Amino acid sequence: MSNIEKVKELIELREKAKLGGGQKRIDSQHAKGKYTARERIEMLLDEGSFEEFDMFVTHRCDNFGIENETYYGDGVVTGYGTIDGRLVYVFSQDFTVFGGSLSETFAAKICKVMDMAMKNGAPCIGINDSGGARIQEGVNALSGYTEIFQRNILSSGVVPQISAIFGPCAGGAVYSPALTDFIIMSKGTSYMFVTGPKVVKTVTGEEVTQEQLGGATVHASKSGVAHFVVDSEEDGMGLVRQLLSYMPQNNLEDAPLAVCTDAIDRLEDSLNEIIPDNPNKPYDVYEVIKGIVDNGEFLESQKLYAPNIVTCFARFNGQSVGIIANQPKYLAGVLDINASRKAARFVRFCDAFNIPIVTLVDVPGFLPGTGQEYGGIIIHGAKLLFAYGEATVPKITVILRKSYGGAYCVMSSKHLRGDLNYAWPTAEIAVMGPSGAIEVLYAKDIAKIEDAEERAKFIAEKEAEYKEAFANPYRAAKFGYIDDVIEPRNTRFRIIRGLQSLGTKKLTNPPKKHDNIPL
Ligand code: HXC
Repeated sequence: MSNIEKVKELIELREKAKLGGGQKRIDSQHAKGKYTARERIEMLLDEGSFEEFDMFVTHRCDNFGIENETYYGDGVVTGYGTIDGRLVYVFSQDFTVFGGSLSETFAAKICKVMDMAMKNGAPCIGINDSGGARIQEGVNALSGYTEIFQRNILSSGVVPQISAIFGPCAGGAVYSPALTDFIIMSKGTSYMFVTGPKVVKTVTGEEVTQEQLGGATVHASKSGVAHFVVDSEEDGMGLVRQLLSYMPQNNLEDAPLAVCTDAIDRLEDSLNEIIPDNPNKPYDVYEVIKGIVDNGEFLESQKLYAPNIVTCFARFNGQSVGIIANQPKYLAGVLDINASRKAARFVRFCDAFNIPIVTLVDVPGFLPGTGQEYGGIIIHGAKLLFAYGEATVPKITVILRKSYGGAYCVMSSKHLRGDLNYAWPTAEIAVMGPSGAIEVLYAKDIAKIEDAEERAKFIAEKEAEYKEAFANPYRAAKFGYIDDVIEPRNTRFRIIRGLQSLGTKKLTNPPKKHDNIPL
């Protein structure tokens, strides 16, 4: 073969590899409303930036006649490229080759990019669309999965890991995305479950569809497994790009600074009036977030799960931050099991990747009741406490209204090494709300008053006394637990100044093998 012919052969082989499992299966993938592995990578990365590895890898299995069926690439496209000019590693499972099922060589390809991502300190993005372990490969497929899990674990907190689920992801395969930082699922075309509907029916008798068991909406709203739901794969890729823009490349770097086109000293007058006079009336904390961040833009994680707490990325003067905010519009912003778990994980992500944390507090306390106690609110609430307490990134807290009891302590208080703790004049910082407190303090006196009207009058008087004493930020400010009481409309500026001052913050935790967060 002449050298020219050798080059021609390479080009032909590449063309063959690019067809994956063949045109018929590509057409079938398109007919399902899904893109191919390569089309997805093209959509995700900067144009022309993709460099592929292991295009000519084939499986080594000789069971069940599979030895007669090989495809270049073996069902996964892997390599690196750039997003907004920043290096990322990527793998994209190819459903057209054995249903994207994972073989030993398929796993080795993924492990290679994961190792490269770690060596070069760059994010790793996995696009999942797979029938799970390749059945013909037996334990070799299982070992392959586990090699990936091990790398997910070691990469955790070192480089950001993002999983996009654009097709099936079932059985033990779910655990690789579960070990990553963020999971994105496409509506209607993706599902995740440990055991599928057939096994569920056999074991429990329960009849469910794939969508009901593990569709995108279920995981976004009920289980909390998915952080984002997208209507299309195009949206999903846009989301990955947006998400990465808030993150550093690795745990030794800071997130990139964006150009800020919003005045840093912009006064948001509406915030001076946002807190209703009636303490039991809700307002929308999204309005506060929009009012203070650059251009009112933020990216919310787990929007549909535990909406009583908001977790989102945003920017102040171009600097990326993670915001955690109680949402009084939902369950009065109470902390429950789901809200605690959701916020704890978000705080830990931000801390791991040097993203400062801004906390907006309006919380009446932890949700009472057997449902919560039996479900382990003690241990789950402790997760949030732990996450805030161990975090060493800059932490700025603004108490907007209620901050009662244990929830005051937990929500990035001064005592958990909050760097700057501000309060609005509408803040109420106390052990509990007025009605609860008066019931406890004056139980005997209240019981003695027989006339209902007089009893109500007595309670109202005592509650007013309590409010006067505690339903304000000045008691906490008197002890230095609050650094300043700030005018709400100036919150943006105060946070930006605060972040600037904390840019050189140095704080480390005591040396240890690792902590023992209450899991
Ligand atoms: C080998 C597989 C496969 C698998 C699919 N294929 N899954 N080949 N191993 N796990 C092949 C099919 O034979 C078919 O080949 C092609 O992929 C497309 O599959 P279809 O069934 O035609 O597609 P569709 O109707 O869309 O159904 C997709 C599916 C279904 C729901 C994913 O294929 C399925 O149920 N597969 C098995 C899923 C499963 O049980 N996996 C094991 C899970 S346990 P042709 O040649 O016709 O194109 C597991 C353990 C992991 O993964 C443990 C980790 C620790």
